[in-house]
Amino acid sequence: MRNIDIFDTTLRDGEQSAGVNLNTIEKVELAKQLERLGANIIEAGFPAASKGDFEAVKKIGETVKNSSVTGLARANLKDIDAVWGSLKGTAEPRLHVFLATSPIHMTYKLKMTPDEVIEKAVETVKYAKKFFPVVQWSAEDASRTDKAFLVKIMNEVIKAGADVINLPDTVGYSTPQEYGELFRYVKENVYGVENIKLSAHCHDDLGMATANSLAAIENGADQVEGTINGIGERAGNAALEEIAVALHIREDFYKAKTRLKLDETKKTSNLVSKLTGMKVPANKAVVGENAFAHESGIHQDGVLKEKTTYEIITPELIGVSTNRLVLGKHSGRHAFNNKAIELGFELSDQKLKEAFQTFKDLADKKKEVVDEDIFSILTNKQTEIKAVDEAYKLQSLQVQYGMNNIPTATISVTMEDGEVTHIASTGSGSVEAIYNTIEKMLPSQSKLLDYKIHSVGGGRDALAEVYVRIDYNGNVSNGRGTAQDVLEASARAYLNAVNRLSADKLEKQKAEASL
Ligand code: KIV
Ligand code: ZN
Repeated sequence: MRNIDIFDTTLRDGEQSAGVNLNTIEKVELAKQLERLGANIIEAGFPAASKGDFEAVKKIGETVKNSSVTGLARANLKDIDAVWGSLKGTAEPRLHVFLATSPIHMTYKLKMTPDEVIEKAVETVKYAKKFFPVVQWSAEDASRTDKAFLVKIMNEVIKAGADVINLPDTVGYSTPQEYGELFRYVKENVYGVENIKLSAHCHDDLGMATANSLAAIENGADQVEGTINGIGERAGNAALEEIAVALHIREDFYKAKTRLKLDETKKTSNLVSKLTGMKVPANKAVVGENAFAHESGIHQDGVLKEKTTYEIITPELIGVSTNRLVLGKHSGRHAFNNKAIELGFELSDQKLKEAFQTFKDLADKKKEVVDEDIFSILTNKQTEIKAVDEAYKLQSLQVQYGMNNIPTATISVTMEDGEVTHIASTGSGSVEAIYNTIEKMLPSQSKLLDYKIHSVGGGRDALAEVYVRIDYNGNVSNGRGTAQDVLEASARAYLNAVNRLSADKLEKQKAEASL
């Protein structure tokens, strides 16, 4: 049985998904969950991209102990220094440096000759090896690279000291047969390939990312890269949960396993979905809501007689609890704390106390509080902006709506200077009236770019979760708001987006002051 390393890039390639923007607290919480899931390697970000990315990679490197943390660098010394600056002192600092090798990328993007590309790759890997015990080099757009050139550059990069070589299908162009063949080819032709690990990194533009990753494993890849729920640039990356469960269920065929704790899969997927606002489609393999639902009479009859007739994956395998013990207003702190532990949360006593109060308030209004509600309460508590760093606090909200009237919102907010502002405004709908009012209150220009609403769990009294993206004073920010009322959730999401910008500013100031 071969061991396959899981390289998770949810926080780097995944965060490159359009409209996704996690802050440091959220990234750290997600990294902790990826560690619990058992990812061998966590790509925490791209430190040279921004101060925020640098800080997040640093914090994740300091927090995570059982996974190797890596950061991405372009093939230049400054980027490599940035990764080293953020990861030096961690248990196993790892560098991921990449350079494009396909004719299209070398000619039009890099404007470099093949020989110059080899020279740059060798120079950067040699430089990185002075600092990092593990250096991964990626041949960007490897699947559209001339094979003879790929072999030539791999020979040189291995001589320069690379420990892992990744061959990405950057634009999701390859077919499983071609991608598998690429791995077989380099295995047979690259000098010293037996001393390094080969890694697969697939994108899902043609819907083949999982199949391509598995084909690479069949043909010699010992590491696969991907994201939870398959989030990522354009159509996304290979979904790690699909690859890991496929290897597990078809162990007879692949004869390979990962070290992932598969019963942490669903929780990880829920967390990614909640923090990014990217809802998992109901029919998504492994983690979709309908993945275990049997709708047709013939299937239901079969499953009742013998589960394996139509069920190849059990809900328990991925950590879906069939014991849906609901809590209600009579549930005490003990039952709530037990539920938090069962759901895998580790909160401080103070945060747990505050979360319990939120639960009690909800239980007064909602008949049954289900796991999804508690997951939402605890995640919000775990990732909230510190009250002292919140620039704007919602104090009250009143909306008047009538089919034949103009919707009007009246809102009170405690402003940055501690003063309470009280304003009313109209809009063509209730949400617009709220947002017009908030925008009037704010000292800088603000504009709504995107608005999404999901219900948590189910039922007519379900919690509403609103996600917004705004442009505030020229900066784009995402916000999340949860409440039983959709209008309150909407107001909270908008203020959260503004508060995140001020909290980021404060973080930056603190980081600069500590330098
Ligand atoms: O898709 C890709 O080629 C990448 C590289 C940076 C590895 O994400
Ligand atoms: Zn990628």
